[in-house]
Amino acid sequence: MALQLKPLHPLFAAEASGVDLKKPLDAATIASIDAAMDRYAVLVFRGQPLDQAQQIAWSRQFGPLDAGLRKATGAPTRFQYDELIDVGNVALDGSVAGRDNAKLIGVLANQLWHSDSTFQDLPVKYSMLSAVTVTDEDGETQWADLRAAWDALPEKTKRHVEGRTAWHSAFHSRISLGDDRYTQEQLARFPSIERPLVHVHPGSGRKVIFPSVHCERVSGLTLPEGRLLIAELLEHATQRELVYTHTWCVGDYVMWDNRATLHRGKRYDLSMRRDLRRTTTLERHAAQAAA
Ligand code: OGA
Ligand code: MN
Repeated sequence: MALQLKPLHPLFAAEASGVDLKKPLDAATIASIDAAMDRYAVLVFRGQPLDQAQQIAWSRQFGPLDAGLRKATGAPTRFQYDELIDVGNVALDGSVAGRDNAKLIGVLANQLWHSDSTFQDLPVKYSMLSAVTVTDEDGETQWADLRAAWDALPEKTKRHVEGRTAWHSAFHSRISLGDDRYTQEQLARFPSIERPLVHVHPGSGRKVIFPSVHCERVSGLTLPEGRLLIAELLEHATQRELVYTHTWCVGDYVMWDNRATLHRGKRYDLSMRRDLRRTTTLERHAAQAAA
């Protein structure tokens, strides 16, 4: 059966069906998923529980996988693959992580609007989350369409931001939440990366406004002016009409384009178990150039 799509929101995000995520894809189906991603930026597959190996294998069909911030923190993992990123609240021994568990800072920082791994020089493309255990309530994930956000910006603001760059830092959001346990070596491993504040999304050819909680500084502005501009742009980009909210069911598999969207998790009771596993692909050309 071929890929089928059902829009979930007036602007972006669609439910995708007709594809078995446990099986390898043929080139035509990969092309149809890429085309759907270019159009919708967020695809929701339902009823597709995957084990670790299956998620890794399926994700790899869309590009080389990235290991995320663990490259800098060297935090231990409970998974068999470095490229499987643990975004839930499960401790290494399989129990629900206690409030004082160091891994929770990542869970909490994910509740701020961001695009994955924009703080590293290797550009990432898609992220995918597999829902293994979900909370009874709360803990939704939200996405915002940054192409629609550009379109909706006042002309005056477009002129103010065009041509500017922002420095993205791996630790800015965590430090803003009061987490300052990072060594000089870890900080040095991920120096801030300068990125355009406006870019063209390659898949759709549409312009994107690209603010994030990872942005710590904006070119041509003082620190406070830059941070206020990022706050203003985040507020604009995440207004209700531009946001799709996903309520998780076990077996959901959501993939999104980090170059066209922002996302965040919603607060939940941390004593409830939430096991969501992420894979993130790198842009193929950049990964090849770096190799
Ligand atoms: C992520 C992320 C949010 C959530 O997986 O990259 O930001 O709801 N997740 O867990
Ligand atoms: Mn994320």
